[in-house]
Amino acid sequence: MKEAVENLLETASHEVGGLAEDPKGLDQARIRFLGRKGELAQLFKELGKVPEQERREAGRLLNEAKSKLEAIFSEVAEKARQAAAGKREAIDVTVPGRSPLVGRLHPITQIATEITRIFNWLGFETVEGPEVELDYYNFEALNIPKDHPAREMQDTFYISDDVVLRTHTSPIQVRVMEKRRPPIRVIAPGRTYRCDSDVTHTPMFHQVEGLMVGKGVSFGDLKGILTTFVQQMFGPETGLRFRPSFFPFTEPSAEVDIQCVMCRGAGCRVCSHTGWLEILGSGMVDPEVYKYVGYDPEEVTGFAFGMGIERIAMLKLGIDDLRLFFENDLRFLSQF
Ligand code: DAH
Repeated sequence: MKEAVENLLETASHEVGGLAEDPKGLDQARIRFLGRKGELAQLFKELGKVPEQERREAGRLLNEAKSKLEAIFSEVAEKARQAAAGKREAIDVTVPGRSPLVGRLHPITQIATEITRIFNWLGFETVEGPEVELDYYNFEALNIPKDHPAREMQDTFYISDDVVLRTHTSPIQVRVMEKRRPPIRVIAPGRTYRCDSDVTHTPMFHQVEGLMVGKGVSFGDLKGILTTFVQQMFGPETGLRFRPSFFPFTEPSAEVDIQCVMCRGAGCRVCSHTGWLEILGSGMVDPEVYKYVGYDPEEVTGFAFGMGIERIAMLKLGIDDLRLFFENDLRFLSQF
């Protein structure tokens, strides 16, 4: 028995000593040596077979062995605890820092800023107008009389008979011309509203209006300025075309299409297999509009244009769902 006990203690101290860094191994060893069916328990069982006169001494040996074993384990466990604590306190200077959450500009704001930046560079001054607008500026002075079918196209939110939420940024043209004399070169971004809501329309959206009026401003100027804008915004290789159109406040009018940014003109789902994407409306300011602001159409000419910012943002940033702009999901917004 004495020999068995000494053997047990020797193996235990040999094996357990190296387990300070191995908590699992330490637990297993504890079961193996001190468990209910462990090696020490096995020796206790054999106590019955020991001759009576030696049994007392053997029992003492076993109890002593138990204390020693427990001491061995608690010493190693203490080492393990210290090792773990040491690890926690050590500073690993190579771990990358955690960057704090920072806010950023909404993609619509970013694109609006980009558009105005390009026109500022071309000599256009940024101006604003009211979102709650008089019918007079939103329609009347833009040559859209009360019974004009274009009013229905605009699905207007009426506040009263003659106050509306502006349906486009074009009324800013009239307000600017009313206050100033040519030459005029302005760019006007802002929120616009239409009573319209589906997958491709939201009741509130954004437009940018442009206006240039002066002596001898021609359709050639319109083409030059808008071509420069497209090349700055979408890259110098982007093709564009001017397509005849109609607006009550411009004559002649043209819509501008750019080569599809997805397929580069080859034809795809985004451009309905035409290779082209419409991005803005434009034209020479209709002489009728000058009458409302007291300009002489024989003296000055000019052009105007208007574009939807969401549309430009979707094409520029490759976003295929308009609603993403308005849900304010940080997982979406933080990508820009
Ligand atoms: N206001 C028009 C719209 O909301 C866009 C537009 C077309 C603006 C032609 C213009 C223009 O200044 O000349 O659809």
